[in-house]
Amino acid sequence: LVWVIAMVKIKTCVFISGQGTNLKNLILKSRDCSFPVKINLVISDNKSAKGLNYAQKYKIPFLLINTKKKNYENKVLNHLKKNKIYLICLAGYMKIIPKRIINNFKGKIINIHPSLLPKFKGLNTFSRMLKNKEIKAGCTVHFVDEKLDSGNVIVKKMFYINNSDDEKILKKKTQKLEYKAYPEAIIKIFKNY
Ligand code: GAR
Repeated sequence: LVWVIAMVKIKTCVFISGQGTNLKNLILKSRDCSFPVKINLVISDNKSAKGLNYAQKYKIPFLLINTKKKNYENKVLNHLKKNKIYLICLAGYMKIIPKRIINNFKGKIINIHPSLLPKFKGLNTFSRMLKNKEIKAGCTVHFVDEKLDSGNVIVKKMFYINNSDDEKILKKKTQKLEYKAYPEAIIKIFKNY
C-alpha cells in the first residue's frame, strides 16, 4: 500500500534563492507517505544559495538558472516538462516568475510570504512592520498570479508582536509558523486529489 501511495505523489519543483529552510522542511515532510507531494526538482537563481546543499544532501536534482539571460524561461519550462512537474512551490525565491511560466502552470504555482497578506507585499516586510507599529505578524501561503503577492490565499498564520521583537526575532517567529503553514497549504490543496 505504501508503495502505491508513493507512486501517485504529486511531482513538485521548489524554487529557492537563499537559505532553503522551507525547502528542507518540505523535503522532510514529503518523506511521510501520507504527504501528497514529492520534491523531484529544485531550481535556484543563485549558485551560492545554501538551500542547494539540501538538494544535494537529499539527492534531489537541481537546476541553476541565470534570470539575466534572455528566454531563460525556456530552460526552466523544459526542465519542468522533462521532470513531469505538476506543482511549483516558491520558497524564498526572490525573482518575479515570468508570465510564460505562470500561463503554463495556471493555478499550480504557490508561494510563501512572510507577512499577513495583503499587508506588506514585496521585500523588507519585518522592518516595515516595525516602523508601522504593527500588532500582528505572520505568514501567508497563496497561489501565484501575474501580480506580486496577490493570488488567492490558501493558509495564513498569525502571531502577536511583542514590544521587544526586533527584525531578527520576527523572522525567527515567522519562519517557525512557515514550517507549519506550507505543508498545511499543500495538504489543503490536494485533500480531494
Ligand atoms: C521565507 O521566510 C519566505 O517567507 C521569504 O523568504 C524566506 C526564505 O527562507 N519569502 C519572501 O520574502 C518572498 N518574497 P528559506 O530560504 O529559509 O526558506
